[in-house]
Amino acid sequence: MKIVHTIKELQTELLNDRSKGRAIGFVPTMGALHAGHASLVKRSANENDVTVVSVFVNPTQFNDKKDLEKYPRTLEADCKLLDPIGVAYIFAPSVEEMYPAPDTREFSYPPLDTVMEGVYRPGHFNGVCQIVSKLFEAVKPRRAYFGEKDFQQLAIVREMVRRMKLDIDVVGCPIVREEDGLAMSSRNTRLSVQEREYAPEISRTLYASRTFASSHTVCETRKFVEDAIAGVPGLQLEYFAVVDGNTLQTVERWDASDDVVGCITVFCGDVRLIDNIKYKER
Ligand code: PAF
Repeated sequence: MKIVHTIKELQTELLNDRSKGRAIGFVPTMGALHAGHASLVKRSANENDVTVVSVFVNPTQFNDKKDLEKYPRTLEADCKLLDPIGVAYIFAPSVEEMYPAPDTREFSYPPLDTVMEGVYRPGHFNGVCQIVSKLFEAVKPRRAYFGEKDFQQLAIVREMVRRMKLDIDVVGCPIVREEDGLAMSSRNTRLSVQEREYAPEISRTLYASRTFASSHTVCETRKFVEDAIAGVPGLQLEYFAVVDGNTLQTVERWDASDDVVGCITVFCGDVRLIDNIKYKER
Protein backbone atom coordinates (compact mmCIF):
# COMPACT_ATOMS: atom_id res chain seq x y z
CA MET A 1 0.00 0.00 0.00
CA LYS A 2 1.35 3.38 -1.01
CA ILE A 3 0.33 6.78 0.35
CA VAL A 4 0.38 9.59 -2.19
CA HIS A 5 -0.37 13.24 -1.60
CA THR A 6 -0.50 14.84 -5.03
CA ILE A 7 -2.66 14.28 -8.09
CA LYS A 8 0.47 14.03 -10.23
CA GLU A 9 1.98 11.22 -8.12
CA LEU A 10 -1.33 9.39 -8.10
CA GLN A 11 -1.79 9.66 -11.84
CA THR A 12 1.77 8.46 -12.53
CA GLU A 13 1.10 5.35 -10.43
CA LEU A 14 -2.29 4.71 -11.99
CA LEU A 15 -1.01 5.18 -15.53
CA ASN A 16 1.17 2.16 -14.99
CA ASP A 17 -1.79 0.11 -13.66
CA ARG A 18 -4.04 1.27 -16.47
CA SER A 19 -1.46 0.41 -19.15
CA LYS A 20 -1.58 -3.15 -17.82
CA GLY A 21 -5.35 -3.20 -18.26
CA ARG A 22 -6.08 -3.20 -14.52
CA ALA A 23 -9.56 -2.15 -13.40
CA ILE A 24 -9.47 0.64 -10.83
CA GLY A 25 -11.96 0.76 -7.97
CA PHE A 26 -12.29 3.91 -5.92
CA VAL A 27 -13.60 4.60 -2.41
CA PRO A 28 -13.78 8.32 -1.56
CA THR A 29 -13.73 9.04 2.18
CA MET A 30 -13.13 11.84 4.64
CA GLY A 31 -11.10 9.52 6.88
CA ALA A 32 -11.91 8.56 10.49
CA LEU A 33 -12.52 5.18 8.96
CA HIS A 34 -14.63 2.42 10.49
CA ALA A 35 -16.06 -0.96 9.53
CA GLY A 36 -18.57 0.73 7.19
CA HIS A 37 -15.73 2.14 5.09
CA ALA A 38 -13.90 -1.20 5.33
CA SER A 39 -16.92 -2.93 3.76
CA LEU A 40 -16.75 -0.55 0.75
CA VAL A 41 -13.02 -1.14 0.40
CA LYS A 42 -13.38 -4.93 0.60
CA ARG A 43 -16.07 -4.87 -2.03
CA SER A 44 -13.87 -2.76 -4.31
CA ALA A 45 -10.90 -5.06 -3.72
CA ASN A 46 -13.09 -8.03 -4.72
CA GLU A 47 -14.40 -6.40 -7.89
CA ASN A 48 -11.30 -4.57 -9.18
CA ASP A 49 -7.56 -5.14 -9.66
CA VAL A 50 -6.51 -1.95 -7.92
CA THR A 51 -8.30 -0.05 -5.15
CA VAL A 52 -7.70 3.62 -4.41
CA VAL A 53 -9.04 5.19 -1.21
CA SER A 54 -9.02 8.95 -0.85
CA VAL A 55 -8.83 10.50 2.61
CA PHE A 56 -9.73 14.16 2.42
CA VAL A 57 -11.88 16.29 4.71
CA ASN A 58 -13.51 18.43 2.07
CA PRO A 59 -14.08 21.99 3.33
CA THR A 60 -16.56 22.96 0.62
CA GLN A 61 -19.22 20.50 1.79
CA PHE A 62 -19.35 21.80 5.38
CA ASN A 63 -21.93 24.51 5.82
CA ASP A 64 -21.04 24.67 9.53
CA LYS A 65 -17.45 25.80 10.19
CA LYS A 66 -17.43 24.27 13.68
CA ASP A 67 -18.41 20.90 12.21
CA LEU A 68 -15.43 21.12 9.83
CA GLU A 69 -13.05 21.96 12.68
CA LYS A 70 -14.38 19.14 14.85
CA TYR A 71 -14.27 16.52 12.11
CA PRO A 72 -11.89 13.77 13.31
CA ARG A 73 -8.58 13.49 11.42
CA THR A 74 -6.92 10.14 12.02
CA LEU A 75 -4.74 9.37 8.99
CA GLU A 76 -2.37 7.06 10.87
CA ALA A 77 -5.18 4.87 12.22
CA ASP A 78 -6.88 4.98 8.79
CA CYS A 79 -3.73 3.59 7.13
CA LYS A 80 -3.62 0.77 9.69
CA LEU A 81 -7.21 -0.17 8.91
CA LEU A 82 -6.66 -0.04 5.15
CA ASP A 83 -3.31 -1.81 4.87
CA PRO A 84 -4.54 -5.39 5.38
CA ILE A 85 -7.72 -5.16 3.29
CA GLY A 86 -6.43 -4.84 -0.24
CA VAL A 87 -5.82 -1.13 -0.82
CA ALA A 88 -3.15 -0.25 -3.39
CA TYR A 89 -3.11 3.53 -2.90
CA ILE A 90 -4.27 5.97 -0.28
CA PHE A 91 -4.67 9.42 -1.78
CA ALA A 92 -4.40 11.98 1.02
CA PRO A 93 -4.10 15.41 -0.59
CA SER A 94 -3.90 18.82 1.09
CA VAL A 95 -6.65 21.42 0.71
CA GLU A 96 -4.29 23.42 -1.55
CA GLU A 97 -3.79 20.38 -3.77
CA MET A 98 -7.52 19.90 -4.33
CA TYR A 99 -8.41 23.60 -4.37
CA PRO A 100 -5.48 25.57 -5.80
CA ALA A 101 -8.13 28.19 -6.53
CA PRO A 102 -11.68 28.49 -5.21
CA ASP A 103 -14.01 26.12 -7.02
CA THR A 104 -16.78 28.25 -8.48
CA ARG A 105 -18.56 25.44 -10.32
CA GLU A 106 -22.18 24.97 -9.39
CA PHE A 107 -23.85 21.60 -9.40
CA SER A 108 -27.58 21.63 -9.18
CA TYR A 109 -29.74 18.56 -9.59
CA PRO A 110 -33.25 19.46 -8.55
CA PRO A 111 -35.38 17.96 -7.20
CA LEU A 112 -32.81 15.49 -5.79
CA ASP A 113 -30.78 18.15 -3.97
CA THR A 114 -33.58 20.48 -2.93
CA VAL A 115 -35.13 18.15 -0.33
CA MET A 116 -34.04 16.71 3.04
CA GLU A 117 -30.30 17.40 3.54
CA GLY A 118 -30.53 19.94 0.73
CA VAL A 119 -32.91 22.00 2.88
CA TYR A 120 -31.01 21.69 6.15
CA ARG A 121 -27.46 21.86 4.76
CA PRO A 122 -27.54 24.45 1.99
CA GLY A 123 -24.53 24.13 -0.32
CA HIS A 124 -23.56 20.74 1.08
CA PHE A 125 -24.24 18.72 -2.06
CA ASN A 126 -22.62 21.36 -4.25
CA GLY A 127 -19.45 20.84 -2.20
CA VAL A 128 -19.81 17.04 -2.42
CA CYS A 129 -20.13 17.23 -6.21
CA GLN A 130 -17.17 19.62 -6.46
CA ILE A 131 -14.84 17.26 -4.64
CA VAL A 132 -16.21 13.99 -6.02
CA SER A 133 -15.93 15.27 -9.59
CA LYS A 134 -12.32 16.39 -8.93
CA LEU A 135 -11.50 13.02 -7.36
CA PHE A 136 -13.12 11.15 -10.25
CA GLU A 137 -11.04 13.24 -12.65
CA ALA A 138 -7.85 12.43 -10.72
CA VAL A 139 -8.50 8.69 -10.25
CA LYS A 140 -10.58 7.90 -13.36
CA PRO A 141 -11.99 4.77 -11.76
CA ARG A 142 -14.05 2.09 -13.47
CA ARG A 143 -16.17 1.72 -10.32
CA ALA A 144 -16.74 3.96 -7.31
CA TYR A 145 -18.23 2.81 -4.00
CA PHE A 146 -20.55 4.82 -1.75
CA GLY A 147 -22.45 3.83 1.40
CA GLU A 148 -26.24 3.79 1.41
CA LYS A 149 -26.24 5.53 4.78
CA ASP A 150 -25.81 8.76 2.82
CA PHE A 151 -28.76 7.81 0.68
CA GLN A 152 -29.31 11.24 -0.83
CA GLN A 153 -25.60 11.70 -1.57
CA LEU A 154 -25.59 8.40 -3.45
CA ALA A 155 -28.58 9.46 -5.59
CA ILE A 156 -26.96 12.83 -6.36
CA VAL A 157 -23.56 11.34 -7.26
CA ARG A 158 -25.34 8.90 -9.58
CA GLU A 159 -27.13 11.81 -11.22
CA MET A 160 -23.89 13.79 -11.54
CA VAL A 161 -22.17 10.84 -13.23
CA ARG A 162 -25.12 10.47 -15.60
CA ARG A 163 -25.24 14.17 -16.49
CA MET A 164 -21.45 14.46 -16.90
CA LYS A 165 -21.53 11.26 -19.00
CA LEU A 166 -18.72 9.74 -16.96
CA ASP A 167 -17.93 6.11 -17.63
CA ILE A 168 -18.01 5.11 -13.96
CA ASP A 169 -20.21 2.52 -12.26
CA VAL A 170 -21.46 4.01 -9.00
CA VAL A 171 -21.95 1.11 -6.59
CA GLY A 172 -24.17 1.61 -3.53
CA CYS A 173 -23.28 -0.55 -0.51
CA PRO A 174 -25.54 -1.47 2.43
CA ILE A 175 -25.37 0.37 5.76
CA VAL A 176 -23.08 -1.29 8.29
CA ARG A 177 -24.40 -1.16 11.85
CA GLU A 178 -22.99 -1.54 15.34
CA GLU A 179 -24.28 -4.56 17.27
CA ASP A 180 -27.00 -2.45 18.84
CA GLY A 181 -28.12 -1.20 15.42
CA LEU A 182 -26.56 2.26 15.36
CA ALA A 183 -25.48 3.05 11.81
CA MET A 184 -21.70 3.34 11.69
CA SER A 185 -20.50 6.89 11.27
CA SER A 186 -17.30 8.81 11.90
CA ARG A 187 -19.43 11.16 14.00
CA ASN A 188 -20.31 8.39 16.49
CA THR A 189 -16.94 8.91 18.20
CA ARG A 190 -18.17 12.36 19.25
CA LEU A 191 -21.09 10.94 21.26
CA SER A 192 -20.77 11.05 25.06
CA VAL A 193 -21.34 7.78 26.96
CA GLN A 194 -24.89 8.89 27.73
CA GLU A 195 -25.60 9.97 24.13
CA ARG A 196 -24.19 6.69 22.83
CA GLU A 197 -26.93 4.95 24.87
CA TYR A 198 -29.68 7.05 23.32
CA ALA A 199 -28.42 6.90 19.73
CA PRO A 200 -29.45 3.27 18.91
CA GLU A 201 -33.07 4.32 19.49
CA ILE A 202 -32.88 5.86 16.02
CA SER A 203 -32.41 2.54 14.22
CA ARG A 204 -34.70 0.69 16.68
CA THR A 205 -37.43 3.16 15.80
CA LEU A 206 -36.82 2.74 12.08
CA TYR A 207 -36.98 -1.05 12.31
CA ALA A 208 -40.11 -0.90 14.48
CA SER A 209 -41.64 1.47 11.94
CA ARG A 210 -41.18 -1.12 9.21
CA THR A 211 -43.39 -3.55 11.12
CA PHE A 212 -45.83 -0.74 11.91
CA ALA A 213 -45.91 0.31 8.24
CA SER A 214 -47.22 -3.07 7.11
CA SER A 215 -50.61 -2.24 8.64
CA HIS A 216 -50.64 1.57 8.65
CA THR A 217 -50.60 4.47 6.21
CA VAL A 218 -47.53 6.53 5.34
CA CYS A 219 -48.90 9.41 7.39
CA GLU A 220 -49.45 7.20 10.44
CA THR A 221 -45.98 5.72 10.04
CA ARG A 222 -44.40 9.17 9.93
CA LYS A 223 -46.22 10.06 13.14
CA PHE A 224 -45.10 6.78 14.73
CA VAL A 225 -41.46 7.67 14.06
CA GLU A 226 -41.82 11.31 15.13
CA ASP A 227 -43.52 10.34 18.40
CA ALA A 228 -41.02 7.58 19.17
CA ILE A 229 -38.02 9.88 18.70
CA ALA A 230 -39.71 12.67 20.69
CA GLY A 231 -40.07 10.17 23.55
CA VAL A 232 -36.32 9.58 23.85
CA PRO A 233 -34.51 12.08 26.04
CA GLY A 234 -31.41 13.41 24.34
CA LEU A 235 -32.70 12.90 20.80
CA GLN A 236 -34.07 15.73 18.72
CA LEU A 237 -35.62 15.00 15.37
CA GLU A 238 -34.61 17.30 12.53
CA TYR A 239 -36.69 15.55 9.90
CA PHE A 240 -38.12 12.21 8.94
CA ALA A 241 -39.23 11.84 5.32
CA VAL A 242 -40.78 8.90 3.52
CA VAL A 243 -39.62 9.21 -0.06
CA ASP A 244 -39.49 7.55 -3.43
CA GLY A 245 -36.04 5.91 -3.47
CA ASN A 246 -35.31 7.20 -6.99
CA THR A 247 -36.74 10.72 -7.09
CA LEU A 248 -36.38 11.40 -3.33
CA GLN A 249 -39.79 13.06 -3.42
CA THR A 250 -42.18 12.53 -0.53
CA VAL A 251 -44.73 9.78 -1.01
CA GLU A 252 -48.13 9.74 0.66
CA ARG A 253 -49.05 6.17 -0.27
CA TRP A 254 -47.09 2.94 -0.11
CA ASP A 255 -48.13 2.06 -3.65
CA ALA A 256 -46.74 5.34 -5.04
CA SER A 257 -43.45 3.64 -5.91
CA ASP A 258 -41.67 0.27 -5.93
CA ASP A 259 -38.86 1.87 -3.91
CA VAL A 260 -39.85 3.59 -0.69
CA VAL A 261 -37.28 4.73 1.85
CA GLY A 262 -37.57 6.46 5.21
CA CYS A 263 -34.77 9.00 5.74
CA ILE A 264 -34.11 10.45 9.17
CA THR A 265 -31.84 13.04 10.71
CA VAL A 266 -31.61 13.33 14.46
CA PHE A 267 -29.49 15.42 16.79
CA CYS A 268 -28.05 13.45 19.66
CA GLY A 269 -26.65 16.26 21.80
CA ASP A 270 -24.86 18.35 19.19
CA VAL A 271 -23.99 15.37 17.00
CA ARG A 272 -26.06 15.18 13.84
CA LEU A 273 -26.82 11.56 12.92
CA ILE A 274 -28.49 10.29 9.78
CA ASP A 275 -29.97 6.90 8.97
CA ASN A 276 -32.52 5.35 6.64
CA ILE A 277 -34.62 2.27 6.13
CA LYS A 278 -36.13 0.65 3.06
CA TYR A 279 -39.87 0.07 3.31
CA LYS A 280 -40.14 -1.21 -0.25
CA GLU A 281 -37.41 -2.31 -2.59
CA ARG A 282 -37.58 -3.47 -6.20
O1 PAF B 1 -19.41 10.54 2.18
C1 PAF B 1 -18.34 11.15 2.39
O2 PAF B 1 -17.52 10.76 3.24
C2 PAF B 1 -18.04 12.41 1.61
O3 PAF B 1 -19.20 13.14 1.38
C3 PAF B 1 -17.27 12.14 0.31
C4 PAF B 1 -18.09 11.33 -0.66
C5 PAF B 1 -15.98 11.43 0.62
C6 PAF B 1 -16.94 13.48 -0.37
O4 PAF B 1 -16.14 14.28 0.44
